[in-house]
Amino acid sequence: MIRETKNILVTGGAGFIGSNLCHYLTKQNYNILCLDNFDDFYSEEIKLNNIKSLLNEKTFELIRGDIRDSKLLNKIFENNKIETVIHLAAKAGVRYSILNPTEYFDINVNGTLALLEVMKSNDVKNLVFASSSSVYGNKNGKLKETETCNKQISPYAVSKKTAELLNYSYHVNFKMNVINLRLFSVYGKNQRPDLVIHKFFNQISQNKPVEIYGNGKSQRDYTYIDDIVEAIYNSILYLEQNPNTYEIINIGNDKSISLLQLLTYIKEASQIERIESITMEAAKGDVEITHADIRKAKKLLNYNPSVSLKEGIKLFYDWFKTEKI
Ligand SMILES: NC(=O)c1ccc[n+]([C@@H]2O[C@H](COP(=O)([O-])OP(=O)(O)OC[C@H]3O[C@@H](n4cnc5c(N)ncnc54)[C@H](O)[C@@H]3O)[C@@H](O)[C@H]2O)c1
Repeated sequence: MIRETKNILVTGGAGFIGSNLCHYLTKQNYNILCLDNFDDFYSEEIKLNNIKSLLNEKTFELIRGDIRDSKLLNKIFENNKIETVIHLAAKAGVRYSILNPTEYFDINVNGTLALLEVMKSNDVKNLVFASSSSVYGNKNGKLKETETCNKQISPYAVSKKTAELLNYSYHVNFKMNVINLRLFSVYGKNQRPDLVIHKFFNQISQNKPVEIYGNGKSQRDYTYIDDIVEAIYNSILYLEQNPNTYEIINIGNDKSISLLQLLTYIKEASQIERIESITMEAAKGDVEITHADIRKAKKLLNYNPSVSLKEGIKLFYDWFKTEKI
């Protein structure tokens, strides 16, 4: 059966996750509107490079603009019959939110609210939102979606939790069809330069010691970008088939690895015998451990992470070498 072509709005589509998603969706039967304001969190050049090969595609349109600009959003929704919104635009980065909480709230909370309002008035129902594992705060063991999470550590995490709650309120009051995906430490091609793995490879290639925050024992559930993209795609399909949904779903790799273990994988992939490191004071805002319980994602989204950390780091390094070395 040939599926009808549908219009998807991807906010933050030029960023790390957004660009990978846009590349994937152009190969499926979708028209993509990519809304991005090229926020100064990292360089515009990197983001333009992420999507440059899409700019000639007939099914891809880049709209430069801000999610807080309701006038622009209204125009986009009035001129295009949008089926689903993938809302990735945000000020990302846990640590920086400690330094600039106001901006994080303005973009992540007010921006989400502006988007919900325009969706409501244009009767667009389907929303996939990029939430974060950071909403769980400091907890041990595998994190389940039913866990109470009222003790976020960083303003970033609070902004994500608040946006989830706004989505819930619009689901209840206006029948918005929502999936909040709680993403766990995403890495891979086009990864943001501030994130570990990319940051480590940058430091190594510049012959600088890698910076280990704290004692190196903090753990993360690193998840490869292709698995994340597939989860987002399956969420789009889920919403298309299940009206009046509200779900929170973890998307992780189901393996939690310490920073020091991560370094051994990086050593292996890069075949560098000795990697110098320096210890930095543990960063404010970071949690100790994340580890996703992904049973709900398996059940609802048919999610099965297929890239191990070892393979993923190798894939990342192959990309990094062509881009940077
Ligand atoms: N990367 C991760 O490990 C991770 C983990 C959990 C959640 N998330 C969430 O996933 C989403 C994407 O993250 P990413 O790592 O790709 O980050 P990113 O910074 O690469 O992408 C975000 C994009 O949003 C754009 N943007 C920022 N403010 C905007 C605004 N006001 N209007 C329009 N566009 C704006 C930026 O220019 C950028 O291109 C974010 O919401 C982030 O919080 C990411």
